[in-house]
Amino acid sequence: MAEPHRLDELRALATQAARRAYAPYSKLSVGAALLSAQDAVYVGCNVENAAFPVGGCAERAAIATAVQSEGAAFRLVAIAVAAFAADGTALPVSPCGACRQALVEFGANAAVTFRNVDGDWAQVDSGALLPWRFVMPG
Ligand code: THU
Repeated sequence: MAEPHRLDELRALATQAARRAYAPYSKLSVGAALLSAQDAVYVGCNVENAAFPVGGCAERAAIATAVQSEGAAFRLVAIAVAAFAADGTALPVSPCGACRQALVEFGANAAVTFRNVDGDWAQVDSGALLPWRFVMPG
């Protein structure tokens, strides 16, 4: 369970990561910062491409960095997502469906925090974001 000050740290780092986003097509800059069970922090940003499906989300970029560092033992404790318009206005963005599936792969009880439509930080359990998620049978 991530303490409140750790979530604040992740929110600040996600905000910084969003500044490095490559989003010339959507003009939506997204940053993510996650805390691992090994007490390490990893960040990611969205990276778009002229061939649109080739682009990737901030959350999965952060997860890929965490796995590259910690290997298969990586477990997700908490993740913050921050999104901004081209003029710097903070926008409400919760993880997309694909990212939700990626989050629960590494932590079904992780804290996920993002801005709601009122501009306040919401905090939701990763499992609650994706009921009936795919689980490999067998
Ligand atoms: N995006 C993310 O980075 N994370 C999400 O959870 C939702 C969407 C990015 C992908 C794309 O670069 C832009 O936002 C618009 O979809």
